[in-house]
Amino acid sequence: MTDRKKKPEDLRSHRWLGAKDLRAFGHRSRVAGAGFTRADYAGKPVIAIINTWSDINPCHSHLRLRAEEVKRGVWQAGGFPVEIPAITLGETFQKPTTMMYRNLLAMETEEVLRSYPADGAILMGGCDKTTPALVMGALSMNLPALFVPAGPMLRGDFQGKFLGSGSDTWKYWAELRAGNITEEDWQGVEDGIARSPGTCMTMGTASTMTSAMEALGLSLPGSTSIPAPDSRHAQMAENSGRRIVDMVWEDLKPSDIVNERSIDNAVITVLALGGSTNAVVHMIALARRAGVNLTLERFDALARKTPVLANIRPSGKFLMEDFFYAGGLRALMKSLGDLIDTKALTATGKSIAENIATAKTFNDDVIRPRSNPLVEKDGLAVLFGTLAPGGAVIKPAAMEQHLIKHTGKAVVFSSYDDMNDRIDDPALEVDATSVIVLQGAGPQGAPGMPEWGQLPIPKKLLQQGVRDMVRLSDARMSGTSYGACVLHVTPESHVGGPLALVRDGDLISLDIPARKIDLLVEPAELEKRRKAWQPPAPKYTRGYGTLYLKHVTQADQGCDFDFLEDNGAKTPDPEIH
Ligand code: FES
Ligand code: MG
Repeated sequence: MTDRKKKPEDLRSHRWLGAKDLRAFGHRSRVAGAGFTRADYAGKPVIAIINTWSDINPCHSHLRLRAEEVKRGVWQAGGFPVEIPAITLGETFQKPTTMMYRNLLAMETEEVLRSYPADGAILMGGCDKTTPALVMGALSMNLPALFVPAGPMLRGDFQGKFLGSGSDTWKYWAELRAGNITEEDWQGVEDGIARSPGTCMTMGTASTMTSAMEALGLSLPGSTSIPAPDSRHAQMAENSGRRIVDMVWEDLKPSDIVNERSIDNAVITVLALGGSTNAVVHMIALARRAGVNLTLERFDALARKTPVLANIRPSGKFLMEDFFYAGGLRALMKSLGDLIDTKALTATGKSIAENIATAKTFNDDVIRPRSNPLVEKDGLAVLFGTLAPGGAVIKPAAMEQHLIKHTGKAVVFSSYDDMNDRIDDPALEVDATSVIVLQGAGPQGAPGMPEWGQLPIPKKLLQQGVRDMVRLSDARMSGTSYGACVLHVTPESHVGGPLALVRDGDLISLDIPARKIDLLVEPAELEKRRKAWQPPAPKYTRGYGTLYLKHVTQADQGCDFDFLEDNGAKTPDPEIH
């Protein structure tokens, strides 16, 4: 039995449904109008199920059904479930990028929970930005909350070979451009790469962030590795529904779970998974919502001691389905041993140590022991230097190793359109040693810092067999991508960072072991260019776009809105009447 800290009259929803006043009469009469009796809700926790299901988001197509399974659990445990749809961030459809709307969903989550009679929240998402968005909002509102991950899709299939989301798209696209596969093959890849509901099944941003939330303690142990169509996924949804009701009675809130130690646990887990570079931006934003100042330097320090243990694409060779069969995240966290602070409290009301006590690895090629890591360390590396005084990020595990230290001449594109117009021009002065540079792709510049950072390799070089080059931008990169791509260059070029001053032919030096990224141009010359630089016009002049441009922070701060960054959990809830 759960340790009850709250009585029914202490519930937040009591103000709506329990009070003996005219307003409460109005609320109750409308619950009755929806066909419920007092026995359905009186004295019970109201559980808001924030669901990002939508026809436009195939990664979440099963969440409509899963919400019913969550409700089943809520009813069983004596709660009153209320499903509330929220904006979905469908990674593959939303332009210019879902990142632009992460903060909108975070605000929606917070405000929905604040303005409705919620005692606890189930957060249903998984497709890339939906996870940080839902959790950022829930952290700021600080009601008991449990994240229910959408789960990865099944392995892709093409001509008897497994396909990985994203990673194999880029791979076969390069082969098509190089003339090595036919249009018919390409169609086969299209039909087989996403063959079930669920999120990308490589270690993209989706599985990176859902796993991070489990490591943080905000979802049920083992939940994030279960493939979306597996019946155990439905069981997990039901269990989550049961658990959130108890969390309300126990008054177990995100602020009891999320702190410096648990944030470190999440970051270490991301690194051990060979997770997406996007996690850097999201984890920083999320940590700041919880009052923890996670820095780029901290990320790098943890990367230096964390081995990559998950052999999953794009860093490794397997897919999320294999990872689940091999023991899943609980097994991986167990393999991490003393790198994880297992005393940390989680949503189960127990410590990580208790949650993973019985975990086992069933395939030690997929989940490596620390004695045989996939990569010894540096799943991510943070670079600083004259080109990125505020930092930049690279994923050394997913690139050709001869580029770890490289100096080359810049080939500069001033915008995404400029790049698309000229990259395949046979006359472009570029060779395999060049450094391809994209400007104007940052949080304000693009805007929204889209996943353009895996800059294309010019066609003429592809045809010569070149498959990796040093590429550099203020954009992000999809977690399913690979290559020697320097990302998140801060400050971005749109606000006049040194990136804005790079010109064709400038020498750029990348030195990952030294964590350096430098523009080898004389300071006097740079100063001259800086004086001549004109800030570009803002891309939006009305609506959400203007709000975004005015308030989005730079990548090293997490790209949250400046007015949401404070620790909402400690800010008193305004009086609601
Ligand atoms: Fe939704 Fe990758 S597109 S998770
Ligand atoms: Mg992605």
